Amino acid sequence: MTMRFKTIFMAILISCASLGAIPMVQAADDDAVAQAIKARQAGFRLYSFYVGQLFAMAKGEQEYNADLAATLANNLVAVTELSNGMMWLPESDNTARQGKTRALPEIWAADSNIGDKAQTLKDAALGLSLVAGDGLDALRGEIGAVGEACDSCHEDFRAEDF
Ligand code: HEC
Repeated sequence: MTMRFKTIFMAILISCASLGAIPMVQAADDDAVAQAIKARQAGFRLYSFYVGQLFAMAKGEQEYNADLAATLANNLVAVTELSNGMMWLPESDNTARQGKTRALPEIWAADSNIGDKAQTLKDAALGLSLVAGDGLDALRGEIGAVGEACDSCHEDFRAEDF
């Protein structure tokens, strides 16, 4: 085959593949609720990326690095400060969207205290960010509160499994 035909052939292959895939994705997995669920899960992945390394340093599994620790903690703070209320749409809990989310319906209950739990994390992250670059002992002193804030919200508002 000449280059030109190869290119055309590839283009046809690619467009066939996407014609097949796109409508399926939109129907099952790409409406506003699905997008909001993915976005909030992405936010939690950022949390876990930042605190994962901080915990590894605290446990001695990763070498402590003051600049990196300070940056990770500052990034955690920045993400906790985003106003992401729009990602928690009605009908985006794990009964309405089985298999896609672990968010429990209790999040949306009238007496839900998820806002307080989010605030607790914000405060803990801020506390950590103030000292994370001041040495391993300082990091160890504040990181526990962050881990507790994560766990406490998961206990009440996140299902074990999808
Ligand atoms: C205010 C409540 C709350 C706090 C605080 C919280 N989480 Fe979560 N987390 C949730 C909920 C609810 C889900 C399920 C989201 C979903 O599946 O739609 C979740 C999901 C996750 C996930 C899975 C994301 C995915 O891709 O499915 C990770 C990882 C995670 N949290 C890590 C953390 C870490 C680390 C912290 C602390 C730094 C934290 N969370 C703090 C409520 C919280």
